[in-house]
Amino acid sequence: MFKVIHSILLCSVLIYALSPKVAHTEPIIIRFSHVVAETTPKGKAALEFKKLVEEKTNGKVKVHVYPNATLYKDKEELEALQLGAVQMIAPSLSKLGQLGLTDFELFDIPYIFPNQNVLRSVTEGPIGQQLLSQLNDKGIYGLGYWHNGFKVFTANSAIQQPLDMSGLRLRIQPSRTLETQIVELGAIPIQMPFSDLLTALKTGLIDGTENTTSNLYSQHMHQLQTHLVTTYHGYLGYAVIVNREFWLSLPKQLQITLMWCFQQATLTNNLAAEQINKYALEQIRQNTNLHIHDLTPKQREQWVQALAGVADKMSHQIDPELIKQVRQLAKQNSK
Ligand code: SIN
Repeated sequence: MFKVIHSILLCSVLIYALSPKVAHTEPIIIRFSHVVAETTPKGKAALEFKKLVEEKTNGKVKVHVYPNATLYKDKEELEALQLGAVQMIAPSLSKLGQLGLTDFELFDIPYIFPNQNVLRSVTEGPIGQQLLSQLNDKGIYGLGYWHNGFKVFTANSAIQQPLDMSGLRLRIQPSRTLETQIVELGAIPIQMPFSDLLTALKTGLIDGTENTTSNLYSQHMHQLQTHLVTTYHGYLGYAVIVNREFWLSLPKQLQITLMWCFQQATLTNNLAAEQINKYALEQIRQNTNLHIHDLTPKQREQWVQALAGVADKMSHQIDPELIKQVRQLAKQNSK
């Protein structure tokens, strides 16, 4: 009798020990940290991705989204991803230079994308793929790109033409190209994380900002500024990236499902982003304290000219071949 009980017990222990699938009954958790509000293009896309993943995997994968820098600020979230403390983030492309991948600053060159078609040819074509593949050596796997939009300038003094920027302290993201852009305007660049921006405006540490209208509106920054000029001088978009070790540990079929969910969320994001920024600008217009200066084509040309030297100044930082290829795409697209 003792022998029978002993055998049963031994069998149970062996089955338990030899069955790694026991652990797989627990859902796989993707912690997705980001720094903006849930009402912005990225905030909405992250929630769409979560919904799709949880539906398609019948809850076998759960996505926990942490918006508004509740987990990590800009630089910290990159480190957390590399360490595996979170599995997924979508930093703005301007922040990837901090990893030593300064070619990503291509996206920061003012007025380099004359229209959405050129931008899409870059993010959805070989240039975009080549850039994402540079992330591999950093322990990161790039799923693709999410779009936000083009940036405007805001300040607490009248800003209509480039000369008006002279001497202003303007917050920028950590990018040498953005720094050069601000210096080119005769202003003073001040780098800081997105989550510190509101306090910096409230305390007067900075005079102004550059951002998309959805980011400005969702953080109520427009309430702390008196002027906005619709320069649409620079692009704000995101690399949607995961911890590489985590990604490679997933079964192939699951990677395919997650990639499908990512692509669906990307389609929704890219369709909605323009609308979300447009809505934000309309809402900001209703704020009587803020004067919006809409540029005429002639005035816009002054900004284009004022910032035309930035690309050449960054050729030690961004592969000149990449800049050339984007310029060629722009030329083909304007025919
Ligand atoms: C973001 O859209 O993720 C933030 C961009 C910024 O830091 O200005």
